[in-house]
Amino acid sequence: MSVCIQTSTDLAGKKILLGITGGIAAYKCAELVRLLKKSGADVLVGMTDAATRFVTPLTFQALSGHPVAVDAWNPDQGNGMHHIDLTRTADLMVVAPASADFLAKIAQGRADDLLSTLVLARDCPLAVAPAMNRQMWSNPATQRNVAQLRADGISIWGPASGAQACGETGEGRMQEACELLEQIIAALTPKVLAGQRMVMTVGPTFEPLDPVRGITNRSSGQMGYAMARAFGQAGAEVTLVSGPVNLATPLGVRRIDVESAAEMRQAVMREIGNATVFVGVAAVADYRPVNVAEHKLKKTESESAQRGRTIELTTNPDILAEVAALPAAPFCVGFAAESQHLDEYAEAKRRRKKLPLMIGNLVADGLGTTDNQVTLYDDAGRHPLPLLHKADLAKRLVEELAKRLNAAA
Ligand code: CTP
Repeated sequence: MSVCIQTSTDLAGKKILLGITGGIAAYKCAELVRLLKKSGADVLVGMTDAATRFVTPLTFQALSGHPVAVDAWNPDQGNGMHHIDLTRTADLMVVAPASADFLAKIAQGRADDLLSTLVLARDCPLAVAPAMNRQMWSNPATQRNVAQLRADGISIWGPASGAQACGETGEGRMQEACELLEQIIAALTPKVLAGQRMVMTVGPTFEPLDPVRGITNRSSGQMGYAMARAFGQAGAEVTLVSGPVNLATPLGVRRIDVESAAEMRQAVMREIGNATVFVGVAAVADYRPVNVAEHKLKKTESESAQRGRTIELTTNPDILAEVAALPAAPFCVGFAAESQHLDEYAEAKRRRKKLPLMIGNLVADGLGTTDNQVTLYDDAGRHPLPLLHKADLAKRLVEELAKRLNAAA
């Protein structure tokens, strides 16, 4: 995953204590600090002496706007209790990269430098992002230490697999800055959707005409992906059934790629058995060509083609209506994108498809843009929400959905 989907409010008011140990992956932390700041977090950085040999403290001081804590014996630091003070106000401590040596040290509860002392003295949750050579990672000693840290309630993020700085390939790379940012946001998000199993359809569908052409629409998938990300961060288990889009899969979300409405329906029906919530965000084509040519259609094929071509269409299945009509239907949420008469059309669709909740928006305000203004329709009436960035709107929808799921329980 390389694209960050952040907004400036994701970590507003949060304080992150970032510990950096000695490893070449330390360079990725410069980007991580920038992303955390952009997300609204206050970032305090602590480094081991070894880490300062890879990147200078000045880099992190400039990016975080705070002096970097390195030395446990610095007399300039107030009452000499810097190791305690630093963690008291933090919402989360993250050590990235966490070297094999540092993992070993904290698994034993040792505290012989400022960073390991901070780990021991903290009263906030801790996550570590290991980074090391693949052999060091798979060594039984490291695995034993990691198991101990897990048992101690410490989150282990990664490591990822791939090419390593040492020239070898395997497990041991630190997760990318974007992924760590997503992990941090998820770690600090209240789990109001814990226990929910969600299936969502997102993006456009593509209805083929021949091997190279087809009928599709302008849905970018942004709203659906933003919702999947927010639902996942709020603790739901999310399966995305996605039409063709150019978007990164949110961390922790399962994604099934499909093209046509028929494929989308098939995937949904396969996944829906266990679901507690179904959200239809996809702009499903209402019709598909009756005939799909095996070979590329040629414009000179027939006389009639010279005069123009008529494409015969047939109706696609309505996936949302079908799910809502299942005997033990999950809580079903629909999306209605309209160009006029929003209230009338959205509410009519909600009633026709028998949905507890419909989210409506005027397409002039929505399709393909980064902001969106929607109105919710349920049995109690219409509830307009303010114009929001799609990622912020998704968070608001988490609250709205959690409220209704609790009421329905
Ligand atoms: N939907 C679906 N399967 C379809 C068509 C739509 O699951 N074949 C879902 C969409 O994901 C969305 C909602 O139904 O949640 C939209 O309702 P619908 O009445 O189908 O909207 P439009 O296709 O936009 O209807 P119309 O063209 O009549 O405006």
